[in-house]
Amino acid sequence: MRKPFIVANWKMHKTVQESVDFVKAIKDHLPDPDKVEVGIAGQAFALYSMHEAAAKSGLRIIAQNAAPQLSGPFTGEISMRGLSQAGVSHVMLGHIERRRLFNETNEAVHQKVETAIMTGLTPIICTDETMVQREMNGEIHYVLKQLQSVLHGVSLDQIRDIIISYEPSWAVGVGQRANTALAEEGCRQIRRMIADIYTYEIADKIRILYGGSVNPKNIQEIMSKPDIDGVLIGRASLDVDNFLAMVNYQQQTK
Ligand code: PGA
Repeated sequence: MRKPFIVANWKMHKTVQESVDFVKAIKDHLPDPDKVEVGIAGQAFALYSMHEAAAKSGLRIIAQNAAPQLSGPFTGEISMRGLSQAGVSHVMLGHIERRRLFNETNEAVHQKVETAIMTGLTPIICTDETMVQREMNGEIHYVLKQLQSVLHGVSLDQIRDIIISYEPSWAVGVGQRANTALAEEGCRQIRRMIADIYTYEIADKIRILYGGSVNPKNIQEIMSKPDIDGVLIGRASLDVDNFLAMVNYQQQTK
């Protein structure tokens, strides 16, 4: 059984105080961590304080990005070694906004994946595609090529704990989620590719998240799909009540 993983991606929102207040407000209302895993990707400067505020709650503290280098003269960059010692457990890599706005390439994401593994952070590898890219490739999704080059050299042992997310560009940040069938199809194709490159056993265990305009109203339908193991939530995760409604989606009346 793959444990559902509900992740807030706060992007460039919230101060240290706002982040800590949010964590304090939700920590006693989270689902049983044995049944549903919950994480928040906050801004780098707030992660350590969030980690302290989250103590013993099981809440995962996640970085939104980090440098591929371990350390050195890279002014303004954030090291994964430092993040892992600040209570961070996961790092998102190659989010669509990083790729589109900051020209992050598959090669750069690949290097970051290697560094994350080396420093003990679990990578959440983000993949995306536009509708045109998706349609042009017919059966072969654009995301599969993206993922293939990012995973190049990642061993059988290393892939086990990696998390992948599928974020179709037409659904991210627009308030209009992707058609659930298309979201499921993207995640299913990714799982099939993992089986081709690695093994069926690994494909069956690896968690694949969907991201793009998830909210309290649509989360239950999205999470009911067999190949969607969790969600990355942007805008709707910024509000305490909305976020609690989503992490406790299993309690929602059908
Ligand atoms: P959204 O963002 O929920 O606001 O569409 C999702 C994401 O960027 O991960």
